Amino acid sequence: MPLNMIRGDITKVRCDAIVNAANSSLLGGGGVDGAIHRAAGEGLLAECRTLGGCETGEAKITGGYQLPAKYVIHTVGPIWHGGSKGEAALLRKCYLSSLTLAAAHDCDSVAFPLISAGAYGYPREEAQRIAVQTIAEFLETHEMQVFLVIYDHSGGTASYPDIVRMLDARMRFAANAAPMMQSAALPREKRHGLFRKPFGGAKRTEETADFAAAPAAAELREETACGVFLPPSSLARALDEIDESFTEMLLRKIDERGMTDAQCYKKANVDRKLFSKIRSDLHYKPKKVTAIAFALALELSLPETEELLRKAGYALSGSNKFDIIVTYYISRGIFDVFRINEALFAFDQLLIGA
Ligand code: APR
Repeated sequence: MPLNMIRGDITKVRCDAIVNAANSSLLGGGGVDGAIHRAAGEGLLAECRTLGGCETGEAKITGGYQLPAKYVIHTVGPIWHGGSKGEAALLRKCYLSSLTLAAAHDCDSVAFPLISAGAYGYPREEAQRIAVQTIAEFLETHEMQVFLVIYDHSGGTASYPDIVRMLDARMRFAANAAPMMQSAALPREKRHGLFRKPFGGAKRTEETADFAAAPAAAELREETACGVFLPPSSLARALDEIDESFTEMLLRKIDERGMTDAQCYKKANVDRKLFSKIRSDLHYKPKKVTAIAFALALELSLPETEELLRKAGYALSGSNKFDIIVTYYISRGIFDVFRINEALFAFDQLLIGA
């Protein structure tokens, strides 16, 4: 996954370079700067002393010393003064300067903290949004694995009140429906027509109506599944007419949208090697997050997304937080994988991409 978000301590991340949110002296400080210097040992400070400081928005590179990382890239973020002093442009410049320096040193993997989001007072959510967008843009033209390392749990789901409300409603509905699910497991003669009227006196909402209808659909599926057997001749024909595979639908949709392969897998937050593997295997079975990544990159509608997932053997479920959040964004016409990953990350869900 070219851009991944992880929780933890950046000094523990094993990658080619970690980025330090330093101050212009480059002679250490508190926060992540202090943590990196402590973990790297005195050699780091000694080398920093030779660098002659660093301007805000610029970046300089040193060895990693006792850190697992080979290099430390020191950048100086803007101090927040309310947003009218060019802070956003300077913060973007920090990420770009660091990524450019990493590429110049043939780094395949880089880890960033949230620059300026601590002592320098940059509003965390906006600092994270700028980090994600700037890194994603850089990755459109570069092959690199980038980690955004989130150290504290501040922010979180508070930034997504409507998703919190929706998840609460779904979980409450599922809790209400639980007894019905048990009775739905009973043989039909034992059910007391529970699904023929709103259950438990609850107000018949669109969701309970859906639920009340569901067992009928389940029964239908049950009968269809166990009642209809294909005679051998049409079984052979059915196998001959096997449906379009996941890969075939993916490649067809890329063509229909006039996209290049690279545009598609970059938008999907999927690395080039994996895409090549999928392209070369017409019956490749992707992970669910990979299938969803491509559905978003292709900006498929919800029905088309479900069709693509079905071809990989998956479905979107109304009782799974990840699926509910993805469905929330697709149904609102929001397909930006990196933006949706920020929400999934806030709810401690798997991220989209591979
Ligand atoms: N790993 C990852 N992230 C960390 C770690 C860590 N070990 N420690 C802190 N952070 C996070 C903070 O939670 C924050 O989100 O790094 C982000 C940046 O916070 P600061 O370290 O305070 O950096 P910044 O806001 O850019 O201020 C820089 O603070 O430490 C001094 O010398 C530094 O003067 C400079 C100023």
